[in-house]
Amino acid sequence: MDFSGLAAMAGAHAEARAIQTAVKLGLFESLDRKSLDAAGLARALGCDPRATGMMAAAMASTGLLEVTNGRYSLSAAARRYLLRSSDEYLGGMILFDEAIFPLWSHLDDTIRSGKPARVPDMFQSEPADTARFIRAMDSLTRARADARWVAEHLDLSRVTTVADLGGGPGTYLAAMLRRNPALRGYVWDLPATLAVAREVLAEREADVAGRIELKSVDYLRDDLPGPVDAIFLSNIIHSEDEQTNAEMVRKCAHAIARGGIIIIKDHVMNSDFTEPRAGAIFSLYLLLTTRGRDYSLDEIAGWLGAAGFANVRIQTLPSPPFTSSLVTARKL
Ligand SMILES: C[S@@+](CC[C@H](N)C(=O)[O-])C[C@H]1O[C@@H](n2cnc3c(N)ncnc32)[C@H](O)[C@@H]1O
Repeated sequence: MDFSGLAAMAGAHAEARAIQTAVKLGLFESLDRKSLDAAGLARALGCDPRATGMMAAAMASTGLLEVTNGRYSLSAAARRYLLRSSDEYLGGMILFDEAIFPLWSHLDDTIRSGKPARVPDMFQSEPADTARFIRAMDSLTRARADARWVAEHLDLSRVTTVADLGGGPGTYLAAMLRRNPALRGYVWDLPATLAVAREVLAEREADVAGRIELKSVDYLRDDLPGPVDAIFLSNIIHSEDEQTNAEMVRKCAHAIARGGIIIIKDHVMNSDFTEPRAGAIFSLYLLLTTRGRDYSLDEIAGWLGAAGFANVRIQTLPSPPFTSSLVTARKL
């Protein structure tokens, strides 16, 4: 690694923070219909003209804005990913990262103590936090097109009912149902999340929402309803500790009909936890906010085997843009 590579990585928070703040202030939305100079942009945002000019120049330097004769306009990337009206809006995820940014300043304490920097409540305590969290999941999945990839590559031809455990906004389930017209689905999740899922499904997935049932399930306390032919867990095991995951996989085995499948989508780490790199860094975020971390294939296969699943297979999604894998197994 050379100087420039290291310096760019070690200072990446400044660029990240600038973009998060620009989204939060509404800078990109205010340029949706017309280009503006710094003074006009400052008026639109209700911000200081000198400071706004500096922010606009910084955003132009990243390629998110273009500047001609002192007037700023959106680049193609900003129009595609940073406008709420876009199907590929990534702003939901960026606003979540903005809100949790202060947690990163506690990383040293967390490494010393091993304890999270906030109560690991999965953002269920305040409705505004739940909405930001669940809309972040929807936004990331949609912008990167994970849900479409999964729906296109997962063979659900022998499945008639699928449960999305911790399904959040239901983005994956909706894509699976769209691809498989005879399929019916459940989102099993906590009540605060289901309230947001109801809104998201009505807004964006109206064509398949009639085939989705939302059911309040706490996988920590409840047995899972069933039987279903398949259970899908995306970004679930990484929030829980080893013992909880072993128990959760066991509960899934009880709820899946004989011959049915479990599908786990997550960062699946190599044996020394260094690859994928996105997963190694993400584990630190998980340390700050949850009881979990990213796990290796051996660990996941161990829980599956102990719960009576066989034919464990891994399929790694193409990177970039993806950073995760699908692990599937069949209940005998
Ligand atoms: C990181 S999000 C993943 C959402 C979705 N599966 C995805 O990949 O976009 C974790 C999800 O697990 C849900 N969850 C957390 N703890 C839960 C529990 N004890 N029982 C059921 N769902 C839970 C959260 O509400 C949230 O929807």
